[in-house]
Amino acid sequence: MLELLQKAQEKPHNLSLVELEQLLSVSSKEEMEMLFKAAYSVKERYIGRRVSLRGLIEWSNICNKNCFYCGIRAGNKKIKRFRLTKEEILATADFVHSAGYGSLVIQGGELENSANTEFVADVLREIKSRWGNELGVTLSLGEQTEEVYKLWREAGAHRYLLRIESSDPELYKSLHPQGHSFERRVECLHTLKRLGYQLGTGVMIGLPNQTLAHLARDIEFFAQVDADMIGMGPYIPHQDTPLGENIPVTAEYMQQQLLLGLRMIAVTRLYLHDVNIASTTALQALAPDGRERGLLAGANVIMPNATAVGYRAGYQLYANKPNLDENAEETMAALEASVKSIGETLRLNELGDSPHAKA
Ligand code: 5AD
Ligand code: SF4
Repeated sequence: MLELLQKAQEKPHNLSLVELEQLLSVSSKEEMEMLFKAAYSVKERYIGRRVSLRGLIEWSNICNKNCFYCGIRAGNKKIKRFRLTKEEILATADFVHSAGYGSLVIQGGELENSANTEFVADVLREIKSRWGNELGVTLSLGEQTEEVYKLWREAGAHRYLLRIESSDPELYKSLHPQGHSFERRVECLHTLKRLGYQLGTGVMIGLPNQTLAHLARDIEFFAQVDADMIGMGPYIPHQDTPLGENIPVTAEYMQQQLLLGLRMIAVTRLYLHDVNIASTTALQALAPDGRERGLLAGANVIMPNATAVGYRAGYQLYANKPNLDENAEETMAALEASVKSIGETLRLNELGDSPHAKA
């Protein structure tokens, strides 16, 4: 295993599929520690002991899609739908800017209609005119046409997150109803890259019927689409979804999901080297120190929720989503303390571009 880790550390893309799978499969505490340390040292080489922040604005939970795993799927009639106004989004962006996050992510359900398209473009233009290059803007609004992506790019967005969820077409199909096209999603990723966005993608980790071989191929897929950023997290069953309703979420299950998520972060770092990798909220949902452990396994970005507290309950993609009742200021103080506790510092007032995008 030492040899394998050394080889991986030498240069990017230096592991075969079998070797990726081998690293993903380590199970003893000692081996996992070795894996995390190796990934951390690669992260340190490219990025240092620094964490970038993205203020996350969950602007609307209205979604036309019906992904089998997701708590805000159109078919879930139990949740109340909301949409932030332009003023509410700008007020949140103002907080994100003045707190020194340097960058924000506007995330929402997938809607393809001209009113939505124009609304987003209008908000982007306003953000750009107020804060210019002092605030990085990432969108995460699902699949759209090339024209829409182009309009939003010109209006000021420079990064886009669109998870592939699983790079295996069969597994992807089993997670989505008919009409959700794997091919279109891949096409969207290529389009975004071509339009000059910094491209983020990722998968859910620990899905039913997902094997380590799937995950190994997911990592190769990230390289194939030339991703600049990776956002991925453990799958967490949601009781009001077709995929999650019969999965008992025991303490043991949560622990397994957490460790698999951490190993996936580490192996992705060891394969891709210079990308931004987020330590996502889903890790934190599984353990109070999940996010810090993600950073120690090779991630370098955290995305604190900047959405007003009153709306957070409406954005439950999965059960037990953390920080539903913390206000944003408390989150900032907690963040500084938590990052310090693992010997890292926050990169304040920086855009925090992926070194890969600059390479
Ligand atoms: N568990 C973990 N992640 C989920 N997502 C949606 N539902 C779940 C779940 N049950 C993730 C998807 C999506 C992102 C916005 O949230 O990967 O891309
Ligand atoms: Fe909509 Fe995204 Fe949830 Fe799918 S995962 S239902 S596209 S919000």
